[in-house]
Amino acid sequence: MSEQSIKPILDQNACDFSATGNDSVDALVQQRLQTMGPTSVLFYREPLVMERGEGAWLYDSSGRRYLDAYNNVAVLGHSHPAVQQAVNEQLGQINTHSRYLHQAGHDYAEQLLATLPAAAPLTDPRLLFTCTGSEANDLAIRLAWLATGRKGILVSEAAYHGNTFLVNQVSPSSCRQLPDWVATFSLDALRDESISAARAEDIIRAEIRTALTRLEQHGHQCAALLADSIFSSDGVFALPHGFLAAAVDEVRAAGGLFIADEVQPGFARTGEAFWGFNRHSTAEQPLIPDLVTFGKPMGNGYPVAGLVAADNLLQRFAAEEGYFNTFAGSHAAIAAAQAVLNTISAEQLQQNAAETGAYLKQGLQQLQQHCPRIRAVRGSGLFIGVDIATADGTQADPGYTSELINQLRRQGVLIGAAGKDGSTLKIRPPLCFGRGHADIFLTTLSGLLSGDDE
Ligand SMILES: Cc1ncc(COP(=O)(O)O)c(C=O)c1O
Repeated sequence: MSEQSIKPILDQNACDFSATGNDSVDALVQQRLQTMGPTSVLFYREPLVMERGEGAWLYDSSGRRYLDAYNNVAVLGHSHPAVQQAVNEQLGQINTHSRYLHQAGHDYAEQLLATLPAAAPLTDPRLLFTCTGSEANDLAIRLAWLATGRKGILVSEAAYHGNTFLVNQVSPSSCRQLPDWVATFSLDALRDESISAARAEDIIRAEIRTALTRLEQHGHQCAALLADSIFSSDGVFALPHGFLAAAVDEVRAAGGLFIADEVQPGFARTGEAFWGFNRHSTAEQPLIPDLVTFGKPMGNGYPVAGLVAADNLLQRFAAEEGYFNTFAGSHAAIAAAQAVLNTISAEQLQQNAAETGAYLKQGLQQLQQHCPRIRAVRGSGLFIGVDIATADGTQADPGYTSELINQLRRQGVLIGAAGKDGSTLKIRPPLCFGRGHADIFLTTLSGLLSGDDE
């Protein structure tokens, strides 16, 4: 596949804006087009008007409930009272920008930094707040350029890293023409998780070397590998453990840095580790990024994001370029972020992600035994990808994948599509998802796959 032919990720999940058959929804869609314009995308062929959320459930304007198996923003669950109360109280007291001293911000930074390995190259790590994951990745690339004096960036074939002008250019799933300082690598060979670790490492090393050569052919040296360690938009590639470390090894041998984008796998989602990159670490060979970026789940819906970098690099950046972000790390943002950290620990959500995730994955693997349409099940914790094929199981089937997602939505279960051709079901529920929720999900999916739906 060429570096420019990935199906845009937004298209994979979008509403087509044609009539839905529901007059009040159609009227809202038209009003949205006339006020917000065509780039304001919506989920599902029949878009939803959501009015309320609680735990893993969302309620539409008619009061119908939907099981949310898609939402990594509401990591704790929708409308979690701890976040609501913390932000409410803070908004009633003060919420102003980042240029005042603020004890709670320091306390939060200290706690978040304590969850990361404080070893080289993350020596003397510091947390810099942003408002979105896109801003954090934008900054990470600027820092990598400054640190290395190079421009080349490696990303996976269908990666998504955000929406600023800069990060759009390192996001093959949204950028229509990648610049020549970006080269991609494929994860196709890792679709079957039973591949041996040694084989996976050989393959990924070869992929990275090829991508490095492509950069060189365009006159660029590698500044960094930017990777979402669960490879969410590529279609979820979690195993075998260690393949990412091999990729980083190749990049570092070529003088590049490793930026771990934790917007998707971070904050306990994979169950195995609090941070996604840590899943590829071993005691003998710890995988420590040069830069780590955070986003969506960090505030459970309140916009707060950030980046961790070594102090000496930030010192240089401050001296040579400087950075200011009005809303980043505001009082309310910190209140939300602190409530999220506290609740993940108090409600043992990492453990739940591991246990419920394993249960759900096993259920999907059982379904796979007698359903040729399921070609592969991959994932870790509550982040699972399911490759969907034609009825004879021979080829990827993006059309049916989209159909399935829309049928699930009609039956009250929400998920999305991922992958370079849009043929992977992306299952990524809030971390309060329990076995009961997993059973509802499995029964509904199984009913649709076996043609038992009404
Ligand atoms: C891996 C990854 N990085 C970065 C981003 C950008 O985050 P935001 O939309 O908060 O800017 C996303 C968004 O989906 C993402 O999936």
